[in-house]
Amino acid sequence: MQGKDPLESNSEIRRLLEAAIRAPSGDNCQPWRFRIQGTDSIGIYMVAERARSFFDYGMRGTMLSVGTVLENLRIQAVSDGLSFEVSYRMDDQSEMPEVVVSFRPDAQVPNDPSRVAAMLRRTVNRRPFLPIQPAQKKLEAILDNPLKGVEVTVINRRRDIRQWARLIYLADRIRYTHPVIHEELFSKILFSSEQAQKHRLGLEIDRLGAGPAAVSIMRFLQPWERMKRLQRFGVDRALANQSRFLALASGVLMLVSIPQDTRKGWIFAGEQVERLWVGAEEQGLCVHPMTVVLFLNQRFREEGMAGFLAQHRPLLEEIDENLNRLLGDKTGTMLFRMGTGLRMKDTAVRMPLESFID
Ligand SMILES: Cc1cc2nc3c(=O)[nH]c(=O)nc-3n(C[C@H](O)[C@H](O)[C@H](O)COP(=O)(O)O)c2cc1C
Repeated sequence: MQGKDPLESNSEIRRLLEAAIRAPSGDNCQPWRFRIQGTDSIGIYMVAERARSFFDYGMRGTMLSVGTVLENLRIQAVSDGLSFEVSYRMDDQSEMPEVVVSFRPDAQVPNDPSRVAAMLRRTVNRRPFLPIQPAQKKLEAILDNPLKGVEVTVINRRRDIRQWARLIYLADRIRYTHPVIHEELFSKILFSSEQAQKHRLGLEIDRLGAGPAAVSIMRFLQPWERMKRLQRFGVDRALANQSRFLALASGVLMLVSIPQDTRKGWIFAGEQVERLWVGAEEQGLCVHPMTVVLFLNQRFREEGMAGFLAQHRPLLEEIDENLNRLLGDKTGTMLFRMGTGLRMKDTAVRMPLESFID
């Protein structure tokens, strides 16, 4: 029988939810809420206030992140010998999409503890990787068991990587010259481990890949007026070039796309993203999402220059022209680089489990 606090009385549900909150989210905003329904169902809801971001246009990134939660729940459920059923209750009109998952003991479910371990270890790695291709066998294992309705493109030819690296560069030029994005980025940085432990929401400075001088560099760049003045000396180009080099020096890039830009499609994409990411972790490979180019382009396609500065127009137009060619009718949901690199020694912070429960 279920007690007053289901997290206390139901260790199965607790284990599932602990897995759920290890899922990735844009800027580590953790935009989910869970409602425990009876002893065998969990409702997943999006939290708009935590999700708010210039990049999260139409909450698409948040929906993707709901998909990554689903995949974590699935991995944990399977490992615990539970069958897993999802009902996607959202439609494109409703305000708050909702997904409900139900679990049932099922002796047929194959147990895979190594996948759970990889899911719990999974984390972003923003360091440079070695410019060598991952072994074909590893890639095949990662791409095994694809999700229906989501396309994964492996970008491994040098010419193609160069094209994408150029688009990543252009998008980052916008990122570093945009006052709203600048403000948002700095509001999300956790500048010390004390701050990280206190808030447990946002981007820990030592995980940003900016090296040992990260705190001084970021503090220096924090005032927008200074950043604006530094544009005259090409600071945005220098920072954007770093992202370009990271992409160029990666083994492969991967693009996850969907045939139609629907809410359900974005959730499916998230499930696929997490499946690839956990698979990469199992194979000892590092992953770094580079989504700015896709998210800025979605906004530009729907709203044109609203929300951007005049100086961004040529950059946005070059991105749009190229993405039109590279994506065709598909919607690009996630772009990441994958490769061999120095592993992260721990995972990113999360809020306490209790704070996610309705
Ligand atoms: C939709 C989405 C977009 C993301 N975009 C980026 C990105 O452009 N650059 C980046 O470094 N990380 C990106 N991330 C990774 C998050 O920053 C990361 O998941 C979060 O900080 C939590 O860290 P963890 O994944 O290591 O647990 C993205 C994640 C999601 C779900």
